[in-house]
Amino acid sequence: MPARFHPDNRDAIDRFQYLPFGAGPRICIGASFAMQEAVIALGVLMSRFRFDSVPETKPWPVQKLTTQPQGGLPMRVTRR
Ligand code: HEM
Repeated sequence: MPARFHPDNRDAIDRFQYLPFGAGPRICIGASFAMQEAVIALGVLMSRFRFDSVPETKPWPVQKLTTQPQGGLPMRVTRR
């Protein structure tokens, strides 16, 4: 539910409800770098390629160490 992370709803998310980088004294020291890197990588990829879901893929979340789409998320990639 990406809408939970909309700026209007951010204050409703408890600090310990979403922990991608851990918390406390051993929190990930690369968190800021990782977030910047992810945004840049996504921006470059989205500007150069188009990603379309394939009809046979039905995304379903599975809880492993992190929440992941079951069976991955195959997509059709075309150059823009
Ligand atoms: C999406 C990328 C990343 C994720 C999801 C991630 C996640 C985590 C998590 C969950 C922890 C454990 C925190 C805890 O014990 O509470 C951690 C620790 C750590 N991460 Fe990351 N990390 C990422 C990228 C990076 C990067 C890019 C670096 C270095 C440039 C980095 C360096 C570290 C280090 C050194 C620790 C150990 C900190 C300590 O034990 O004091 N991580 N990370």
